[in-house]
Amino acid sequence: MLDLTTPKDMRAWSRAERARGRSVGFVPTMGALHEGHLLLVDRAKQRTDRVVLSVFVNPLQFGPQEDFAKYPRDVARDTQLAAERGVDCLFVPDGTAMYPEQPLVRVAPGPMADTLEGAVRPGHFAGVLTVVAKLLHIVEPDVAVFGRKDFQQAMLVRRMAADLDFPLEVEIAPTVRELDGLALSSRNAYLGGDQRRSALALSRALRAVEQAWRSGEADPKTLQRRGMDVLRAPGVAPDYLELVDEQLHPVRRADARTVVVIAARIGATRLIDNVVLGEGIASDVAVRGM
Ligand code: PAF
Repeated sequence: MLDLTTPKDMRAWSRAERARGRSVGFVPTMGALHEGHLLLVDRAKQRTDRVVLSVFVNPLQFGPQEDFAKYPRDVARDTQLAAERGVDCLFVPDGTAMYPEQPLVRVAPGPMADTLEGAVRPGHFAGVLTVVAKLLHIVEPDVAVFGRKDFQQAMLVRRMAADLDFPLEVEIAPTVRELDGLALSSRNAYLGGDQRRSALALSRALRAVEQAWRSGEADPKTLQRRGMDVLRAPGVAPDYLELVDEQLHPVRRADARTVVVIAARIGATRLIDNVVLGEGIASDVAVRGM
């Protein structure tokens, strides 16, 4: 596996691969890799000839009170996992390589960023889309793969690529869960024993909504109440549970394409999750404890 740190080298490698007729797939991450990221790599490998994985903890997407400083970082472990999974090129730029000057221009994410995570984390999605735009310009992939666990992010990236004519395909891969339902997230590392148990309330609440919908309930308010009853569990501070469409608009009636999005705090750790009602939690990928 090739290890690159500068945008110049990264772009040169990618261009050389494409000049040889090979397609390039890309998985952007902030490191602390887990099976969720590695399944994105598998997806990229199925679709393209060469796969790039980036590790960059992007300061622009963290608020002043958020966990930028303590975000888990272990590049040696990430390098080993990426190599074992068959990544061809690991791109690990530092802050100066990505932002040689304080960036003055940022991507304006528009109204889809004003709700849900965006309402709680002002400026977060401008930071995400700015770094994703930069990474896409550096790597110039044919396919970029994002996880559906970060549903709002995935929808915004897809919309940015479409609205701003990025010449690539954005693929969105299913959420990966532990066997008991907990969605994999780098932030799960913050959870102590009891907190990990409390965190199961998120997937249980999603399941409760899904079951109620499958039994014929389509009123979003009723479904929301059903989920909230489960989410209000010991140790869990619910943030939101909403039923939305792909543009993040609240739905009037739940149908198979409706997405139930959820966020809650477990102690100091904020977790998010979601389910597409017609697909169901059972269609997500389940892996044994990480
Ligand atoms: O999902 C993430 O890990 C980050 O938001 C991303 C897409 C790598 C941008 O920093």
